[in-house]
Amino acid sequence: MLKQYALKLPGKVFCGENALEKIKDILAAEGAQHVAVITDKGIRAAGLTDLVLTQIESAGVRYTVFDEVPVEPTYQQAQTLVDQCGSVQTDLLIAVGGGSVMDAGKLASMLVLGTLTVKDLLETPGKAKKQVKTIMVPTTAGTGAEATPNAIVAVPEKELKVGIVNENMIADYVVLDAAMIKKLPRKIAAATGIDALAHAVECFTSNKANPLSDAFALPALKMILNNIEAACDDPEAIEQKQSMQLASFYAGVAITASGTTAVHALSYPLGGKYHIAHGVSNAILLVPVMRFNLKDEAFCARLAEAHDACYPANTLASCSEKACALIDRMDEIVRHLDIPTCLREFNVPESDLETLVEAGMQVTRLLVNNMRPVTAEDAREIYRQIL
Ligand SMILES: NC(=O)c1ccc[n+]([C@@H]2O[C@H](COP(=O)([O-])OP(=O)(O)OC[C@H]3O[C@@H](n4cnc5c(N)ncnc54)[C@H](O)[C@@H]3O)[C@@H](O)[C@H]2O)c1
Ligand SMILES: [Zn+2]
Repeated sequence: MLKQYALKLPGKVFCGENALEKIKDILAAEGAQHVAVITDKGIRAAGLTDLVLTQIESAGVRYTVFDEVPVEPTYQQAQTLVDQCGSVQTDLLIAVGGGSVMDAGKLASMLVLGTLTVKDLLETPGKAKKQVKTIMVPTTAGTGAEATPNAIVAVPEKELKVGIVNENMIADYVVLDAAMIKKLPRKIAAATGIDALAHAVECFTSNKANPLSDAFALPALKMILNNIEAACDDPEAIEQKQSMQLASFYAGVAITASGTTAVHALSYPLGGKYHIAHGVSNAILLVPVMRFNLKDEAFCARLAEAHDACYPANTLASCSEKACALIDRMDEIVRHLDIPTCLREFNVPESDLETLVEAGMQVTRLLVNNMRPVTAEDAREIYRQIL
């Protein structure tokens, strides 16, 4: 656990029933004249962008909508969005979408006035300062991107996804309204919910874990374990969906204070090379990596601590029983939600094993957070299990 730690939070978070109405107050407080609304076609077709536009219209503020953010954009595609936003004079950016849209919006907030590019930030992430304030309105639950200083882009020439981290990218405002995730299709709710689960458990068991990150990671984990199935299965389970939305935000805060570990590290090449959705690749790796980590005593003790916090009435005696029970519960969730558990469905040939190992081992930014050191041989064994 870190001896020194810090946490930067979004400026203001609005949460709960009709939280979207607060957008009017934000626009007034900021004296906004012309806002850029960043979103994607799927969210627009689901009628969610309109819910935000109604608020902007009733505030009497002009807006321009940019709805062409692709799923899990490359850095070149993120640059296109930056350039589009730069073509109009806006004084506030509102990102309405999942992690893909929010990350693209964060990059735009740093680069919209020109001079630097997304490629520059890939090379020197700390180089830029925020140029335009942001409001994040997540529509998945989720990446927690509304809370983090990270923007993840695909780098096609490396067949990898790369996280750009700059604390200036933390949102100025976050609006969590369950109306945005009410009709989230089950498949997307399942994958993005597992992503939040991975954030919570990885941040709690990370070498960077600390009291501040624990304060968010543990309640996030508990909320997810108690609500994820109902939130995904039952369209009317609005309370459970609200809990998932809050949990994914908490898990995002935990990322900001701590950091994810080998699940996310080894998952990056699966997104970068085979375009497997971020939540799905994490779901495939979550249980195998947790089982690999079990051999580390300190990890086992932390997972047992998480188990006790989430299931205080349990009567299990040893750390290893508790840690195993928590991993079994995660396995049960992944299976219940019908998320693929191996790479066969994505036509990943066995002959790609070495390329995967090489790419996964490059994600040192996150591998260093893993309590049990991961060697290339370990990564090979984990990938072999999921082929
Ligand atoms: N910045 C961070 O801290 C962070 C953390 C984790 C993941 N990420 C990144 O976020 C991206 C993934 O984001 P995501 O998992 O939220 O998915 P996404 O943003 O890629 O969206 C996936 C699909 O879901 C659709 N969709 C989203 N919300 C919907 C809704 N309410 N109703 C109907 N359709 C909806 C979108 O239109 C899209 O087609 C990846 O690039 C990942 O690397 C970032
Ligand atoms: Zn993630």
